[in-house]
Amino acid sequence: MSENNASEDKEFAAEFYDISYSGRKDIDFFVNYSLGAKGKTLELGCGTGRVLIPTAMEGCEITGLEISPLMLRRCQEKVEQQPEQIRKLITLIQGNMTEFNIGEKFPLVTTPFRSFQHLISTEEQKACLHCINEHLEPGGLLILDLFNPFLPRLYDTKYEIEEELTPESELPDGRRLRCTTRTLAFHRDGQYNEVEIIYCLSYPDGRTEKRVHSFPLRYFFRYEVEHLLNLSGFRIKELFGDFECSRFCSDSPEMIFVAEKR
Ligand SMILES: C[S@@+](CC[C@H](N)C(=O)[O-])C[C@H]1O[C@@H](n2cnc3c(N)ncnc32)[C@H](O)[C@@H]1O
Repeated sequence: MSENNASEDKEFAAEFYDISYSGRKDIDFFVNYSLGAKGKTLELGCGTGRVLIPTAMEGCEITGLEISPLMLRRCQEKVEQQPEQIRKLITLIQGNMTEFNIGEKFPLVTTPFRSFQHLISTEEQKACLHCINEHLEPGGLLILDLFNPFLPRLYDTKYEIEEELTPESELPDGRRLRCTTRTLAFHRDGQYNEVEIIYCLSYPDGRTEKRVHSFPLRYFFRYEVEHLLNLSGFRIKELFGDFECSRFCSDSPEMIFVAEKR
């Protein structure tokens, strides 16, 4: 794939991100933590504002940090459509969660929808946790949202075959979009999978278009994260297995750590 295509594909990902993940049921969880935080939330990897904007709509101040200019531009466009009293609660910053200095302390830092899993190396993860710790008020909370690895997905070649991510639906302009996903490569030595999201578009005139966004996604195991957090100055307060705050167990879909700055 040429560099040109790769960046177009990221543009595609930014354009269709919200529709692809509209079924995700995590927004209330994060909004409730922001409501309880009594101060500004910092969201790392805020993407298109899927969680950030509903948080501001509930009256919470929130700063979003995002590395991708395309995702951030999409987020900015959506923020601009909001009324003034919501817009003024939102600050957007382009930056890398492994090396940021916002010059402010927050009572709550969040990483919704696994943005921390984009950090592949332990060095990046430790650098990120160090930055988070520096930006938290004493006793401030970090919510680290990760998936609970389903072991066959880490080696079984059946996941190399495309499976549906989002059923076909009609877009406001008459085009139809369907998303599929597959694992391109397993890297058990580096503890990450190379993942593809495939966007299949059908136009009203019968044309079709297919674009692929691929990226590496790190997976974490429970006690690895416990060590990482403890070594990075955090005390684990909760470990949830889903966004209904169920206790983490073997079959939990999620692995959500709530950790306090020590
Ligand atoms: C799966 S999306 C989650 C977006 C948003 N938090 C949500 O819940 O919809 C992960 C986001 O993290 C961003 N990201 C990845 N690595 C990053 C980094 N090093 N620093 C900041 N953002 C990063 C990606 O560009 C992407 O927008």
